[in-house]
Amino acid sequence: MCGIIAYAGPRSAVNLLIDGLHRLEYRGYDSAGLAVQGSRGELQVEKRVGRVIELERAIGPEIKGTTGIAHTRWATHGGVTRENCHPHLDSLQRIAVVHNGIIENMGPLKARLLSEGVRFRSETDTEVIVHLIAHFYDGMGALGDSVSPDVAGDPVVALRSALARLRGTWGLAVLFADHPGVVFAARNGSPLVVGLGDGETFLASDPHALTPHTRRVVFLQDGELARIDSAGVQTFRIDGVTSKHKVDTLAEEWGDSELGEFPHYMLKEIHDQPEALRQCLGGRLVPEDGTARLGGLDLGPRELVKLPHVALMGCGTAYHACLVGAGAIEALARIPARAEIASEHRNRNPVIDPEALYFAVSQSGETADTHGAVKEVQVKGGQVMGVVNVVGSSIARACGRGVYIHSGPEMAVASTKAFSNMVAALLLFALQLGRARAMSPHAGKELALALQDVPNRVARYLAQPGPIEEMVRAVVGAKMVLFLGRGGSAAVAAEGALKLMEVAYIPCVAYPSGEMKHGPIALLEKGSPVVVIAPDDELKDKTLSNLQECRARGARVLLIHTEGDLEAAALADVAIAVPRCHPLLSPLLTVLPLQLLAYRAGLALGRDIDRPRNLAKSVTVE
Ligand code: G6P
Repeated sequence: MCGIIAYAGPRSAVNLLIDGLHRLEYRGYDSAGLAVQGSRGELQVEKRVGRVIELERAIGPEIKGTTGIAHTRWATHGGVTRENCHPHLDSLQRIAVVHNGIIENMGPLKARLLSEGVRFRSETDTEVIVHLIAHFYDGMGALGDSVSPDVAGDPVVALRSALARLRGTWGLAVLFADHPGVVFAARNGSPLVVGLGDGETFLASDPHALTPHTRRVVFLQDGELARIDSAGVQTFRIDGVTSKHKVDTLAEEWGDSELGEFPHYMLKEIHDQPEALRQCLGGRLVPEDGTARLGGLDLGPRELVKLPHVALMGCGTAYHACLVGAGAIEALARIPARAEIASEHRNRNPVIDPEALYFAVSQSGETADTHGAVKEVQVKGGQVMGVVNVVGSSIARACGRGVYIHSGPEMAVASTKAFSNMVAALLLFALQLGRARAMSPHAGKELALALQDVPNRVARYLAQPGPIEEMVRAVVGAKMVLFLGRGGSAAVAAEGALKLMEVAYIPCVAYPSGEMKHGPIALLEKGSPVVVIAPDDELKDKTLSNLQECRARGARVLLIHTEGDLEAAALADVAIAVPRCHPLLSPLLTVLPLQLLAYRAGLALGRDIDRPRNLAKSVTVE
């Protein structure tokens, strides 16, 4: 989704900004632009629809300077056009703004500005912000408010006055031609982090863009403004009072954000999974006691036994991990656990039990809906813990406590290794909770040992993935692909369908197998591909009955089954076996062929694998 990078210092800004935009590309975007201050402070702007490389090619040698702001846009208000790209300028081209987030009261503000003679050049909500800042900067009583002319020309006052009239979310970087060498910033609900270098300062919406330059960072808080120059950062509250800020050090992460020998990040990240799982499980399993310890939760057995229930919230792939986690918690701890889509949870005025435990599950830790759900639980007195990949992200910080899943950087928009690690982290929690309640030492030990070995089984499968290409041939020309499974495998079916839709743009429908006869069966005709996930567990026979119902209607059955289960394999048109494992762990194995299926199908159809159309890695708007 939208990305921001800005620089103030002695070096040439253009290359640094372009490099930063490239590091933000993985988030998904449709256009890019930048503004650099020239030698007299004048604002030089370039923007392009399409890739950052196209912007890079368009920048002429005349654009130079040592202070600038840049942006990747993911369209919300207004189509994907050059006019709508950021930065946006005020009428006199003295102020440039890049913006992440959405301004909810754009309509009335724009109407007032239009009535005062302002001419808009784009359809964006962001343009409202820059004209609003300009009005206050000129000391005018814009929009009917009276502002004293003696504060004209004060950028912080102009910004504060404008922000006070906005409703919605923003991460903003602003340049003023009259203030060379300075970038102004403001945050409300859309992350911004300042990177402190040696005689130079950066600003970004994602710490990943800063790590080549510095690991010393200041995370701006909601409601804060900042003034950034080569010497560092000053922060203010919206009322103008200087605020104190804390300098954090970004931890070194395992794993590489470079492609290495792989043609795409998605394939690299699929193959990262054995090591990613080791990083997540390492030091957290206690096989001799048949349990797990998640230190970041800071919950002892006395607190765990009192939990009446657990609720898990997430979006997309993270929601599918929540479904697996909820099933495991109920199975092992015998207390109710439910998964819910975060956007639904935050908006339905949920009933919150202060005694219960809520998990916010998110790879990026920035998903607006999940963050919103966290706030809603907290407002109602509930206890939320994060299950997050990105250290120091907004959700991790809002929760305060939780579990880092340690997937390493995930760059492909379609999530793979983060899914596995979310599932692994939730399984660790289910084991810890289960043991604090009724689970026997023997059962605990069995599961702990199985978890310890799961990375090896994942590696063994990935070394010999089976007839993926045959499955690809069955799905690439299909009108629709149906995915079926039961229990944890229903969540895997949903995840497999999501992957194939995201990466190959093939319409997919995922259903718990038992529900198939209540609707989707009407879609089946001769040759319709149906992916069935039927590991050798207590639900397998029921799923195989549904498989037979599909075959009876001429469907082409693509089966994911447990190694050695020849009886199941014999029922399929194409069968892919995954290594046998503890039944609760099967999602960690059965999801692998589905990730590869999506990848290979996307490739066969010539899709942009790592940056599928219209999608974003981190969805920071509601
Ligand atoms: C976007 C991504 C999905 C991801 C979802 C949740 O929709 O395209 O791949 O699963 O957001 O992201 P999160 O960072 O919260 O896990």
